[in-house]
Amino acid sequence: MSELYVQVNGRRHSLEGVDPNTSLLWFLRGRGLTGAKEGCAEGECGACAVVLVRTDERNQARYEAVNSCLVLAVAMAGQEVLTAEGMGRKDALHPVQSAMVEQAGSQCGYCTPGFIASMFAEVYRPERDGYDPESIGGNLCRCTGYRPIRDAMRSLPLAPPEDRFAERLAQPAPPMASVRHQHGDRRFYRPADLDELFAVLADEPDARLLAGGTDVAIELTQRYERHPCIVSLEGVAELRSLDEDDEAVSIGAGVPLTQIERRLGEKLPVLHTLFNLFSSRLIRNRATLGGNLVNASPIGDSPPVLLALGAELVLAKREGERTVPLDGFFTGYRQTILAPQEIVRAVRLPKPFPTIARFFKVSKREMDDISTVAAAFAIELDGGVVKTARLAYGGVAATPIRAHEAEKALVGSPWTEASLRTAVAALEKAGTPMTDHRGSAAYRRAMITRLLERFFHETQEGHAA
Ligand SMILES: Cc1cc2nc3c(=O)[nH]c(=O)nc-3n(C[C@H](O)[C@H](O)[C@H](O)COP(=O)(O)OP(=O)(O)OC[C@H]3O[C@@H](n4cnc5c(N)ncnc54)[C@H](O)[C@@H]3O)c2cc1C
Ligand code: FES
Ligand code: FES
Repeated sequence: MSELYVQVNGRRHSLEGVDPNTSLLWFLRGRGLTGAKEGCAEGECGACAVVLVRTDERNQARYEAVNSCLVLAVAMAGQEVLTAEGMGRKDALHPVQSAMVEQAGSQCGYCTPGFIASMFAEVYRPERDGYDPESIGGNLCRCTGYRPIRDAMRSLPLAPPEDRFAERLAQPAPPMASVRHQHGDRRFYRPADLDELFAVLADEPDARLLAGGTDVAIELTQRYERHPCIVSLEGVAELRSLDEDDEAVSIGAGVPLTQIERRLGEKLPVLHTLFNLFSSRLIRNRATLGGNLVNASPIGDSPPVLLALGAELVLAKREGERTVPLDGFFTGYRQTILAPQEIVRAVRLPKPFPTIARFFKVSKREMDDISTVAAAFAIELDGGVVKTARLAYGGVAATPIRAHEAEKALVGSPWTEASLRTAVAALEKAGTPMTDHRGSAAYRRAMITRLLERFFHETQEGHAA
């Protein structure tokens, strides 16, 4: 077997002897690349941000900034990583570094290399058409000196720099070849397709599956768990495609949310709203729908939206596939119908898409926060009468739920205040909210009905969006 390595700033670093549970952040710092810092070790601050060279949905190479505290070093075997150290030198700064100096954006220095990584990826982003606050939204400046940092980002010309980094993007990104790695009795696999995945799982039935790792890595960094065997789904080609035909859109369970956003955000504006409120760009560059669904948190943000869109899941195991409605996938708190060694292969969104669909997220902070309650509603009207209705909630029960009784109350009725009242009466019996530090059961119960009322009013003629 050839030696495993990761290429960092153009130099190969061996991955031999690296524990599969080691984060890319600690791997880099252990090799003297101490620009990336550990601030929170849970994806919240961006002090650890670095840049990867990835294949995007157009099959082109692109720079993507990620939180290296949530990426496993061995999962980056054969991949290219750039850190702030590799972007410029003291005597030849990269334009984003110069901009930070000129605008006095580097105040403490602790968070600066992470900001530089996010800014670097942003200046080469092909769709960039102006200052996008999201580009640095995953990076915290604890001394709150955001204005000069924002000014630095704003001062950068729209055209990407014409330099060796731009030239690099003309070549394909490194492929996700199959990887097998062992350190002591700890094993890591990155199969390249489903057949290889199921063969690995037959030998390693208790392996911890890893997609983007934004949930799994927290087990390592916050709970100090160490997994004897980790299987990354990142290389499994069948999980990374996004296909569309007349019947449905099929989103591979391993497609990063940022790519879904770029591909479907305009076609399905409710997805645009969802992703806009889903953590930060740094997280969405890694997080997947498969991870969000199988994590099965009652406050996961994608389940209400996918339930409202009538999503189905394609589940796969060695013996074959089955397609099941998402409504029914969650069986209890953090539990699903997945059988042992069965995975989610794709999320299928049947057509036609509902013409009226909205997502609402109630959280303490508008952006980059965890939901207290989330709701997604989709209705189809025919001459002012409700033809179909799907009302879905997160954060109001042990699992994400559909409010079937309220849906029944709406279907066949005109979309009027009177029908809304009937639905609200049915909703009052829905959910089993609990009290926690994010909100009381009474508050959550109130949100169940208020959000539907808001949806109703926002969908009335003359309402300013
Ligand atoms: C800072 C931060 C902010 C966050 N903000 C939000 C937010 O706003 N909203 C929200 O909903 N979530 C949020 N999350 C949670 C997390 O980002 C999401 O749940 C994400 O979608 C998980 O996807 P992943 O690919 O990273 O999953 P992973 O961590 O790789 O995996 C999660 C679980 O799913 C399993 N799994 C993954 N893919 C598959 C598959 N295809 N088949 C079978 N099992 C699979 C894994 O084994 C694991 O059990 C946040 C997390 C962090 C760290
Ligand atoms: S250390 Fe804070 S996001 Fe990684
Ligand atoms: S400049 Fe680093 S925390 Fe503000």
